[in-house]
Amino acid sequence: MSVIAVEGLTKRFGTRTVVDNVSLTVEDGEIVGFLGPNGSGKTTTIRMLCGLLTPDAGSGTCLGYDVRQQSWKIKQAVGYMTQRFSFYEDLTIAENLDFVARLYELRPRQEHVQRTLDDLGLTHRKDQLAGTLSGGWKQRLALAACVMHHPRLLLLDEPTAGVDPKARREFWDQVHTLAGKGVTVLVSTHYMDEAERCHRIVYISAGKVIARGTVDEVVANSGLVTYVVRGGDLHALQAKLDGLAGIEQVAPFGTTLHVVGADIDKLEAAIEPYRHDPAHTWSRGETSLEDVFIQLMGGKDRP
Ligand SMILES: Nc1ncnc2c1ncn2[C@@H]1O[C@H](COP(=O)(O)OP(=O)(O)OP(=O)(O)O)[C@@H](O)[C@H]1O
Ligand SMILES: [Mg+2]
Repeated sequence: MSVIAVEGLTKRFGTRTVVDNVSLTVEDGEIVGFLGPNGSGKTTTIRMLCGLLTPDAGSGTCLGYDVRQQSWKIKQAVGYMTQRFSFYEDLTIAENLDFVARLYELRPRQEHVQRTLDDLGLTHRKDQLAGTLSGGWKQRLALAACVMHHPRLLLLDEPTAGVDPKARREFWDQVHTLAGKGVTVLVSTHYMDEAERCHRIVYISAGKVIARGTVDEVVANSGLVTYVVRGGDLHALQAKLDGLAGIEQVAPFGTTLHVVGADIDKLEAAIEPYRHDPAHTWSRGETSLEDVFIQLMGGKDRP
């Protein structure tokens, strides 16, 4: 049975529909990335999945429990990491973990707290105030706390926002280790490299799922074609190409320029007058996930 299986989830705030008919299945041990622009409904969807918000329409199960009828069961069973650091900054690390252990009625409590501190390598800092931890350590502590009760499903809402690359990599290593042990993960993120670490991604925009699959599938389904230009004064070239019919995006990537189109014939017609300038070399490149997401976000038509 799927760990998450929901259909038609919908949530309205006042007259606005912020999650619109979202269906989602996540299988045992899968790591699924949940992507989409700010305000697209990721957090709201996650909160419906973990039983904190009641959907206005739709149905389904999470860990086998009904998302409408058994929200309290789901709340107990999942590990939910909220978008913002959810600890008491003026309690110590140990006190925070003790609080979580009480919440989940873990016994013997002290043992759970001590083991978590040992696993984290934080025993010697247990009396430090949580608010004084660095960003990376805060995330590590938050993950440790949300797996303390051994949940089979983790719902992680932008767990690595603002965390440095090394700490992010360690965090993802941990997520993969947990998945290897059979834990299922749904994780929202704005980072492309993190999307690429997921087995599968789901992309939501204005409350609707508009793309899903493996990263390769999402890139292939976009139908986008990318040319990479190298050479001198790419800035001037960018200005000339920007906005031409057939060209969806022109964006600098380091010392190259990515020129992206949705229709190869139209794209090649658009770049034809510029391709023979000896100052530049043009080659077909791989379309990046970022190119696809920019396109999904509305590309050049966005104000
Ligand atoms: N309790 C609420 N009452 C009214 N509107 C809300 C409430 N919670 C969220 N919204 C609105 O619903 C929309 C979706 O918000 P949500 O937080 O789910 O987006 P998100 O995809 O998580 O965004 P971000 O990437 O910025 O975290 C936003 O426009 C937000 O302002
Ligand atoms: Mg959010």
